[in-house]
Amino acid sequence: MAARIDHLVTSGTFSLDGGTWDVDNNVWIVGDDHEVVVIDAAHDADAIAAAVGERRVVAIVCTHAHDDHIDAAPALADRTGAPILLHPADAELWKRTHPDRAPDGDLADGQELTVAGTRLRVLHTPGHCHGAVSLYAPDLSAVFTGDTLFAGGPGATGRSFSDFPTIVDSIRDRLLTLPAGTEVRTGHGDSTTVGAEAPHLEEWIARGH
Ligand SMILES: [Fe+2]
Repeated sequence: MAARIDHLVTSGTFSLDGGTWDVDNNVWIVGDDHEVVVIDAAHDADAIAAAVGERRVVAIVCTHAHDDHIDAAPALADRTGAPILLHPADAELWKRTHPDRAPDGDLADGQELTVAGTRLRVLHTPGHCHGAVSLYAPDLSAVFTGDTLFAGGPGATGRSFSDFPTIVDSIRDRLLTLPAGTEVRTGHGDSTTVGAEAPHLEEWIARGH
């Protein structure tokens, strides 16, 4: 049986630079009836574990270490035995949320994870924060972009650890170069496609966010 993409939305807060905001996060579950990868264990380990069911969790992959994307990762890891994987450039952000629990492994650009016979290629896409990654699944014609690319433009770059020119480079060079039909599965809100977003790059650069 081929891998498929399951999805749930969980609710909680995002805190950084002294502010706290209510947020809804997309949690992506890629796999088959036997094994899955969880992309971004946000807010609610019980809900994610229920969506996973009896399936083995190969890894809990963090697109980046903003607290809303990782707050339930240790609890989900404890329940499932799965390793938490994070790009090491986000280690400092991670420690702000989980000072007593390190990730179990590193994500690196070009690394490939395999789940249910489907490859997930790690693309280092910094800018929203230093260790932001996207996961490209060519067999599924999908890319999981975390908070790097949304329907309508780049992720936020106004807070600490962020840089707008860097996120533009990541989006232009690593994401908009994927096939136009590639589905963009985002960290918050609606999905889009590479082909729908690519024509707007210059508008985003001109407006500066
Ligand atoms: Fe974020």
